[in-house]
Amino acid sequence: MAARRRKSSVYRRLSIKSISSLHSHTLELVIPSDFGREDLEEEAAYKEPNNRVLKDFIPIKVLGQGAYGKVYLVQDKYTGKLFAQKQLQKPTIEIHQKDENHTKYVKRTILERQILTNITHHPNIVKIFYALQDDDKFYLILEYIPGGELFHHLTAASNTLGNVFKEDDVAFYSAQMAMGLRHLHKLGIVYRDLKPENCLLNSAGHLVLTDFGLSKSIGNSHDDSCTSIIGTPEYMAPEILKGEEYDYLVDWWSLGCVIFDMMSGKPPFTGNSHKAIQDKIIKNKINFPFYFSLDAKDLLNKLLNKNINKRFQVDSNWERFKTHRFFRKVNWNALESQNYSLLTPPIVPVITDPILAENFSEEFTSLPIDGGVSINSNQNTSPDPFKGFSYTASNSYIEKFC
Ligand code: ADE
Repeated sequence: MAARRRKSSVYRRLSIKSISSLHSHTLELVIPSDFGREDLEEEAAYKEPNNRVLKDFIPIKVLGQGAYGKVYLVQDKYTGKLFAQKQLQKPTIEIHQKDENHTKYVKRTILERQILTNITHHPNIVKIFYALQDDDKFYLILEYIPGGELFHHLTAASNTLGNVFKEDDVAFYSAQMAMGLRHLHKLGIVYRDLKPENCLLNSAGHLVLTDFGLSKSIGNSHDDSCTSIIGTPEYMAPEILKGEEYDYLVDWWSLGCVIFDMMSGKPPFTGNSHKAIQDKIIKNKINFPFYFSLDAKDLLNKLLNKNINKRFQVDSNWERFKTHRFFRKVNWNALESQNYSLLTPPIVPVITDPILAENFSEEFTSLPIDGGVSINSNQNTSPDPFKGFSYTASNSYIEKFC
């Protein structure tokens, strides 16, 4: 491909494209302390997108935080494009001795990178562009989804019934979740972690699944995580919690839990401890709030069947699923032909400028961004100590989708 010379340094982006928002949000724009200002002012020479090192991604804000790492909004200093960068501390003997869960997260990050790079393009699934590493950390550089978590919009939604969505809106989002899950299942991947926090909205308001740290490729015999559960069990199927064999059906159970949550403000089984929640998922009957429609209750009874032999086999009964009355207002043809312009999302996120990350919780975006890429980052090029982790998508993929 002919190398197009572009003058799109970060400095240029901030000073020209975002001039209006810069004026009104002067205090919001935090320039990272470990980022050399001379780099900002220097006109970055053009470099093909498939030729990037960690320091080419400038941390802008924190978007989220998990037990072992943060997700940052970062900006490519050559093109000005924004990405979400998920970081994870590498194992050290010290951490390993103190915390065996960390080892599981490391294994999962490596698996997450493998799974994400095996997923073919789908509008409801986050894309990966790079997987990088330095001496201290792993970094997944993902498509930035600027509308924030569906959960954030759910807590902002308020009507007479509390923080809940209208049933038609729930049908809209759950149809997009189902499209993403079905795509994964066709590729032999079980998602395993469907919950509102992992559902983001893109700038148009369409739903995108992120966080594949718990996903599993069926046939991956090295995976021990079905017997070792970390994180919240609220949306997990009873067979996972019991340590039994399981497959794609666990995702349809979780979809039932998320539908219930969007309609009522909480998942169907709650409690004060993981053990209490787990016990209810395994043993208790579901109680539906009085205002759930008959269609919603019928669909949920089918998805939330504890007996896997009686649960809705959505993958093999896709037509029956789509034509369930709960989804009667969903335009499945537009979804299946990926003709998203025919769909009208219930919420269009307010995005003054994507760099402001205004749809992400202040709890995260107000965090200091030091601790991004290690200041003395020594990026291993070769040999790759975690063999096969590092990855770069093709120029055409990066240019097409970012
Ligand atoms: N949080 C986790 N993944 C994300 C992404 N891809 N975009 C925005 N925020 C995220």
